[in-house]
Amino acid sequence: MESLFAAYEPEVHGHRTEVVVEPLAQRHLDACVALAVQREGGDPTAWRTVLESGLDATDRATFVGLVDGQLVGYSTIAWLAPAIGHPKSAAQDGWYLLGLVVDPSFRRLGVGRRLTAERLRWLHGRTDRVWYFVSSANQASIDLHTEFGFRLSAENLDFPGVSFTGTGLLFGADLTADDPGVARGVVKFWKTDKGWGAISSAELPAGRDAWAHFSMIEAEGFRALREGQQVLFRYHAAEQDSFRFVADWVRAIED
Ligand SMILES: CC(C)(COP(=O)(O)OP(=O)(O)OC[C@H]1O[C@@H](n2cnc3c(N)ncnc32)[C@H](O)[C@@H]1OP(=O)(O)O)[C@@H](O)C(=O)NCCC(=O)NCCS
Repeated sequence: MESLFAAYEPEVHGHRTEVVVEPLAQRHLDACVALAVQREGGDPTAWRTVLESGLDATDRATFVGLVDGQLVGYSTIAWLAPAIGHPKSAAQDGWYLLGLVVDPSFRRLGVGRRLTAERLRWLHGRTDRVWYFVSSANQASIDLHTEFGFRLSAENLDFPGVSFTGTGLLFGADLTADDPGVARGVVKFWKTDKGWGAISSAELPAGRDAWAHFSMIEAEGFRALREGQQVLFRYHAAEQDSFRFVADWVRAIED
């Protein structure tokens, strides 16, 4: 069993790689069970039962992250009702981000970020508020979620069925109809042969554009953009070549 949390290394900035995110399917189960056991320990058969039971559920969904076809991460969202039997818990009933795990050999490549972006997109329109709890010792995870608008809601959390290393923290984020994390922009240029380009937007600081890789484009089939195209995109601060912002999701809003 690996150590529970990633070492906190804020000064190290990861590279980005192409990550494909898919809903968990039967074909992913062996690799997903192996990753779960590697991180959390426990009985593989029990893990398989838990993961399999989520395949057709309406109150939970698991997503997997694939790099070059290899399953390297998974994450779940579930509707939980912590208040039942625990009226004093600060945690409310609602949708929770759960169990984000990335294979230690594939960390700092943007897998956790992509899995989180996809889960929030899935929840968009299903709820206005999303929750996430974490150990106070897990600063790597806290930084990752802060990027997506999660803010501290309660400390010393008592969450039924969960024991925390250190203390438990509860974070919440708003997913309002016009998602504030989504910006509007225009494709400044696009290098189809290289698979990347730049997006300019009034929502970025003056003089700054966002670097965008084709793997971040939400589209069927061949993913590319073209100069002048209007897009919706999410971005975060990161260094990539001369850029200071990197898109982690892009959707064209006109053809
Ligand atoms: C936390 C975890 C899921 C992050 O996955 P990851 O794929 O390595 O994360 P990403 O590459 O997408 O990182 C996105 C951002 O999160 C932050 N981050 C992630 N890992 C970090 C670390 N070890 N130290 C500091 N910041 C970190 C950074 O801001 C990072 O951006 P950057 O690389 O551009 O600086 C992974 O370390 C993991 O599986 N840990 C063990 C399980 C766990 O703790 N899960 C969370 C439970 S709530």
